[in-house]
Amino acid sequence: MSDPLLSTENLDWQSRAREVADKYIRPVAWKYDRLQEYPWEVQARLKEYELFKVFVPVEYGGGSGSALNLCLVVEELARACGGIGVGFAVNALGSFPIMIGGTEEQKERWLPSIAAGDRLVAFGLSEKNAGSDAGGMACTAVQDGDDWVLNGEKKWNTNGLVAHINTIFAVTDANSRSRRISPFVVERPGSGETVGDIDGFRIGKIEDKMGIRAIPVVELEMENLRLSSDHLVGGRPGLGFKHAMMTLDKARPGVAAQAVGCAQGALDFALVYTTQRVQFGGPISSKQMVQKLLADGAQKVEAARQLVHAAARHIDAGSPKGNKFAAMAKCFATDIAMEVTTDAVQLFGGYGFMRDYPVEKFMRDAKITQIYEGTNQVQRLVIARNLIKEAAGLAHLKEYFPIPEDRR
Ligand code: CAA
Repeated sequence: MSDPLLSTENLDWQSRAREVADKYIRPVAWKYDRLQEYPWEVQARLKEYELFKVFVPVEYGGGSGSALNLCLVVEELARACGGIGVGFAVNALGSFPIMIGGTEEQKERWLPSIAAGDRLVAFGLSEKNAGSDAGGMACTAVQDGDDWVLNGEKKWNTNGLVAHINTIFAVTDANSRSRRISPFVVERPGSGETVGDIDGFRIGKIEDKMGIRAIPVVELEMENLRLSSDHLVGGRPGLGFKHAMMTLDKARPGVAAQAVGCAQGALDFALVYTTQRVQFGGPISSKQMVQKLLADGAQKVEAARQLVHAAARHIDAGSPKGNKFAAMAKCFATDIAMEVTTDAVQLFGGYGFMRDYPVEKFMRDAKITQIYEGTNQVQRLVIARNLIKEAAGLAHLKEYFPIPEDRR
């Protein structure tokens, strides 16, 4: 049933994504989960349905550029497969630094082929020793004449194996904290299934994962990787950390939407199963304890979805609350996704634990959403920092509990 709170444009993106999910993703989701291979046949459909245009503004060959539309698409894809949902969303994550900080020439150079679905994108921020402390990275970029020379490693690079464009953050001023890092675009030749090699850039370990197995997560190794200066995003160094944070603000509602998709996908299966499965002479959906799990799951998913939409609307409006709402949506939606997918496994009983049945995959796919694009511990830190700032606006309330001077 369509959501009356959404516009015709919102509903168009949502229904196209739902069609791709129903026709082309769900039928192959468990195959790619087992194979742990990139689903190129699905990629071709995402391109055919022009879904990559959703996160790119119209002036750069896209079709929307709206965070809300992106969330609607990602939820539908993840409802069929959490892995394919993030494999799509990470293209937006890797493109946002170009949209946020790139020069006009850089936007015109890279964004149209991304919007067309010809070139895939990855995002290289984390390192082995710089996860939550993103600013503490060690990968360096040193200026040499007109070029920059990159050395170091990146970790947890989603899509890295198949990406033609990788936005890599590196230290350009080791003596500064807030102006320490800068983003670079590393291009590999080719398009579609062809991804060529370049000197100085190597794919390292390919991770063997609990969930999101359709999508490769890899280590990247850079050894004297030489880039001409037009690959430095924005043309001047030092704004990388701020732009990485702004990128994450824009992208986190997308992770939250992925989590809502996983939760809804598991709940859909649980609803159908519990109305079919007969115990004690009737369908288990007639039992109150089963109804409680279904009803609680439905409430959690809907509350998370509405928070995701609110966060996306704040991001689209450029609202100062975008940072807090993005963190709240990411944290809340991914936590409830873990609860709802685990309860779905419970509702399937012993069958739920088996790989022949569909729900355990949703639980495995959901787990990483609590971790990547900032752990939920980091999200709570971001939320709390915002709340503490907002406390200044509530200072008048201290009249109700005067704290004696000697106890301040
Ligand atoms: N927008 C704009 N500027 C921001 C900002 C934001 N949202 N957040 C911080 N900044 C600015 C601050 O104003 C400050 O600027 P000044 O120095 O000029 O005052 C500067 O950035 C430093 O800010 P903080 O002091 O808050 O930085 P911090 O070191 O305390 O870090 C943090 C804060 C929230 C913990 C941050 O490091 C963070 O978000 N960490 C998590 C990183 C993360 O999400 N990694 C995941 C990578 S992607 C991935 O998972 C892989 C994948 O492929 C999917």
